[in-house]
Amino acid sequence: MKIIIKNSAADASAAVTDMLLQQIGKKPDSVLGLPTGATPLAVYARLRDEFRNGRGCYKDITTFNLDEYLGLSAEDPASYSFYMRENLFRHVDFDLGRAHIPHGLAADADAEANRYEALIAAYGGIDFMLLGLGRNAHIGFNEPGSLHNSRTRRVALTASTLEANAAYFPPGAKQPSHAITMGIGTILESREIVVLAAGAEKAEAVAASVKGPGTEFVPGSALGRHPNTTIVLDTAAAQHLERAQTLEFDA
Ligand code: GLP
Repeated sequence: MKIIIKNSAADASAAVTDMLLQQIGKKPDSVLGLPTGATPLAVYARLRDEFRNGRGCYKDITTFNLDEYLGLSAEDPASYSFYMRENLFRHVDFDLGRAHIPHGLAADADAEANRYEALIAAYGGIDFMLLGLGRNAHIGFNEPGSLHNSRTRRVALTASTLEANAAYFPPGAKQPSHAITMGIGTILESREIVVLAAGAEKAEAVAASVKGPGTEFVPGSALGRHPNTTIVLDTAAAQHLERAQTLEFDA
């Protein structure tokens, strides 16, 4: 695992934005895996800015989002479909027909998960997977206890994740307790994985993921098994790592 530490969250986001732009520049029909949450917001904002300045072409890009809440329609402002449209897709020359996100209102969530998994395979897998990291080291919505060879499936969210994400729901709105997430095994089949984590509240999850040992109780620790993973951090998120563990240290 390659580790890059930047002085600030903004610099870490800029580095990840450059990696994404390089990917779509070298392979204009890339299949991207994309996360939601607070962490990638600055990356998506930079991609929008770069696009306005003529950098980045999304016409032939296909995307697969990591996860979606069960029970929310794609029009619900708390859904990840809505998030992706508002934060990235509608601002660039992207064909929404190539945007794949699990259907939150699927009548049969297991069938929907299987459909999604098969669709990723039909596209030949994911070239470049961008991940955030939950405070409990979850990736996608693979909570602690998820098998490292798990596939796309319906999952129950932990109390810690529900609490962390409560802010995205307006007062009085019912917060979904379940989601469909790409599995860890599905994620690990991506050809390249880039993880972005920033802030002190991620430091323990980062250390547990990077230092190992690989355990199902730390979903992020599965990434150590992947041959082409880079984790991009700010100094706060990296505070429990020893300098010797990093290959690039800008701080
Ligand atoms: C959310 C998402 C994950 C995301 C993580 C971190 O629950 N399902 O894909 O990476 O938690 O979120 P944040 O970036 O808001 O800290």
